[in-house]
Amino acid sequence: MNLSTTLAGIPLNSCILNASGPRDTTLEELQALQTSESAAIMMKSCTIDSRPGNPEPRYVEFTGGAQQSMGLPNHGYQAYLEYAQILKETSPKPIVASVSGLSPEDNLHIIQAFQDTPVDAIELNLSCPNIPGKPQTAYDLTATDRLLEQIQSTKPLGLKLPPLLDPALVRDFCSCITQHQVSFVTLINSVGNTLVIDPATDRPIIKPKHGLGGLSGSMIKPIALGNVWMFHEALKDTQIDIIGVGGISFGRDVYDFLLAGATAVQIGTAYQSENIPVFSRLNQELLQVFAEKKIASVDTIRGTLQEYQ
Ligand SMILES: Cc1cc2nc3c(=O)[nH]c(=O)nc-3n(C[C@H](O)[C@H](O)[C@H](O)COP(=O)(O)O)c2cc1C
Repeated sequence: MNLSTTLAGIPLNSCILNASGPRDTTLEELQALQTSESAAIMMKSCTIDSRPGNPEPRYVEFTGGAQQSMGLPNHGYQAYLEYAQILKETSPKPIVASVSGLSPEDNLHIIQAFQDTPVDAIELNLSCPNIPGKPQTAYDLTATDRLLEQIQSTKPLGLKLPPLLDPALVRDFCSCITQHQVSFVTLINSVGNTLVIDPATDRPIIKPKHGLGGLSGSMIKPIALGNVWMFHEALKDTQIDIIGVGGISFGRDVYDFLLAGATAVQIGTAYQSENIPVFSRLNQELLQVFAEKKIASVDTIRGTLQEYQ
């Protein structure tokens, strides 16, 4: 019985890794991930220049989830080129760069810059909901198609997507990406432009974007799971892998994402609140689920969700 998996041709010793965003911005945080039980080191989404991000308060946890509008605070892509080099010198653990340029040209430039580095894969974030004045690229299929057409990457390329809430949208999206060199999709980014009002103040709980921000944590799990299941249906005859992310707090949640068709999962909000121990806990809990159900491997259950007849 083991939790290993292969994502975009990269062997991982567990199907559980961190999501881009929480606790993966500084070299120290990335080094903590390196020695953790996260199966890979997913780095913070980077832009051309370093960014302080949006004004605070910009991240608030509450029962069932969290809302945030971080605004991509990061050290700029050149720092992550350097961090990847430093990390790889001490361990072979796979490293994934997350690219979130503020324009198509920025994305092309940063993806190009990561080609001659030790990163094992690149996740292109087409779904940040928290940059004032910037729409989420993946909601514009024409713009997505145009961008993908121009990307040349020798590294496996994944797309981080926002929730798509209709099977027709998912089918259109998949028809587009199967025309391009996409190795995996990561589903889903936080649910964008939500509003949470603080009953004590009658004001939004976060400051940026008039109080609108991305929702994450356990309350978004059914949305993420639905997206994984819809994409699994649309992509099952292709080589494109699915990473599930959204609301994973327990080993049983990971198991649900595997059943729905994920090859691996990422942990965001639970990692933000629980820190490094979350990875060993989730691995243990998933092993427990596998033992109870007599499941030998991730491969044997991936996408095997049984529907009512
Ligand atoms: C504080 C915070 C920062 C985030 N920053 C990023 C980011 O830089 N890039 C990205 O692709 N997703 C980012 N996300 C989204 C997460 O990677 C993840 O898709 C989302 O939170 C859902 O997963 P969860 O419910 O496990 O948190 C961020 C989420 C949080 C909570």
